[in-house]
Amino acid sequence: MLDTTALNQQRNFFDGHSSIWLFGYGSLIWKADFDYLERRSAYIHGWERRFWQGSHDHRGTPEAPGRVATLIRAQGAVCHGMAYRITPDVLAPLDRREKNGYLREKVPLTFVDENGDENGDESGEATEQSEGLIYLASDDNPAFLGEAPLTDIAQQIAHAHGPSGANKEYLLNLATALRELGAEDAHIFALEHQLKLL
Ligand code: SIN
Repeated sequence: MLDTTALNQQRNFFDGHSSIWLFGYGSLIWKADFDYLERRSAYIHGWERRFWQGSHDHRGTPEAPGRVATLIRAQGAVCHGMAYRITPDVLAPLDRREKNGYLREKVPLTFVDENGDENGDESGEATEQSEGLIYLASDDNPAFLGEAPLTDIAQQIAHAHGPSGANKEYLLNLATALRELGAEDAHIFALEHQLKLL
């Protein structure tokens, strides 16, 4: 397992800031077990969510890894999630939580207003954006599993369990949270459908 904790300490893009926007797209949407100052629905451009990252430490084991969310680059795509304004001291425990292959990256994010609209879209005012931080498991990390038929991914998720619980709970909670955000995500909803057929 690649423990990225030390590497992430060096990725101190927001040093000197009193608060940072963290963008969650996976379990960070529905499991906010950290302190935050505020949270806002938001999205990022050019990324798609995929269950392509292996989980040996949370939702699976080294012998039978589960699958969890990461992001892949996709031109024109929009990925919805939840942004949390946090103080920098929250990053150390997050680095430990996300240690199996996830590295801190800086991305531009756009906030969604309380009615679910992009800020400024109808009023013509400027869209509200900020720099944000994501935890990204890229395809060169050792736990990356990559693409597989949806039925195989659903089977793997149905059977995997780890210290944080059943892998299927991760997928079902994420699908529910995305629905609550009013977010479209064909990959996640198709996987949820497959899982429920098993
Ligand atoms: C995230 O939720 O933003 C990162 C991946 C995860 O912890 O599930």
